[in-house]
Amino acid sequence: MNNTLRLSEIAGVGHYVPNRVVTNADLTGLMDTTDEWIQERTGIRERRWFEEGKDTTANMGANAARKALEMAGLTPDDVQLIVFATLSPDYFFPGSGVLLQRELGIQAPIPAFDVRNQCSGFVYALSMADQFIKTGMYDTVLVVGSEIHSSGLDISTRGRAVSVIFGDGAGAVVLRPSTRAEHGILSTHLHSQGEHAEELIVKEPGSNRNNRVEYVVANELDMYPYMNGQNVFKHAVVRFPQVIKEALDQNGYQPQDLDMLIPHQANLRITQYVQQKMGLPESKIFSNIQRYGNTTAASVPIALSEAVQEGRIKRGDLVCLAAFGSGFTWASALIKW
Ligand code: ACO
Repeated sequence: MNNTLRLSEIAGVGHYVPNRVVTNADLTGLMDTTDEWIQERTGIRERRWFEEGKDTTANMGANAARKALEMAGLTPDDVQLIVFATLSPDYFFPGSGVLLQRELGIQAPIPAFDVRNQCSGFVYALSMADQFIKTGMYDTVLVVGSEIHSSGLDISTRGRAVSVIFGDGAGAVVLRPSTRAEHGILSTHLHSQGEHAEELIVKEPGSNRNNRVEYVVANELDMYPYMNGQNVFKHAVVRFPQVIKEALDQNGYQPQDLDMLIPHQANLRITQYVQQKMGLPESKIFSNIQRYGNTTAASVPIALSEAVQEGRIKRGDLVCLAAFGSGFTWASALIKW
């Protein structure tokens, strides 16, 4: 960290999830699975699925953003930059950042861009926003993670290993220059390893075809997510502790100094493994995967928003956000709240 640069702080956080609750029992009507299997392997009891005609990736992000702005005492017109993390944009192009700008009614031609880093997307987006604040280029940055998975899942028995995991939702934070010395985002840490790109992938509609539309029509199965679950699991349980430790080391802290760890909600078993590996009590690690499943880029800000709402994060607390996912990519952010 360069201490001569100003720190940024999370001035507001909010989330939105669709009303439609889909329980494990509901899934048993669609595929050969059981509540026991899903709970035992993932911890998930239910997830939210969007409502067509009502929820979009951009407007769910806008709902979360309005709450974050309200908490910060700001309005959409105060926003100077939008950073939008999603793997499930409303359109192939343009990205969801500009759609969010429109949803929020922001008339000023502020910059907006998308980050495509899947489960690590929000922490990557937060890190980018942090750099803009640190350098003084912007004072108010909206960082959003929003996903609609349910419309792209194979909800037959063929796709059950993946489709029971994912859910829809959105979370957002407002970043501002820190008003308190040595409080705010202390450091962020970003990594990737592209050799594992195909281990967790939605392959189509890829652009490397002579006629991609024709190809997709003939190979529609490649539009569903594929995951080598066991391999992803093996890497996740190594990378999560590594990237959390990296953040603590850089700032001279030990795991026991952490007040709250907000991991990406990938699988409750992964979270429990990380908790044990870091030697943390259950009260210091936040889990809501039971109610929402894995919402990829939305999972960290939804969890952060709930943790703040529930009073589990207080001023001055040491908070770590950490994520791992497709790419592979992984990332962390250490925050003095
Ligand atoms: N219901 C019932 N049985 C199932 C289901 C299901 N929904 N899904 C798979 N099975 C069966 C399999 O067919 C297999 O049967 P078999 O032994 O007869 O072949 C058996 O259950 C075991 O399957 P595995 O895939 O070995 O199960 P595993 O214990 O590995 O759990 C899981 C699968 C939950 C996907 C796990 O591997 C996991 O969580 N991996 C990591 C996921 C993750 O972290 N993703 C990263 C973020 S996502 C992102 O970045 C986009």
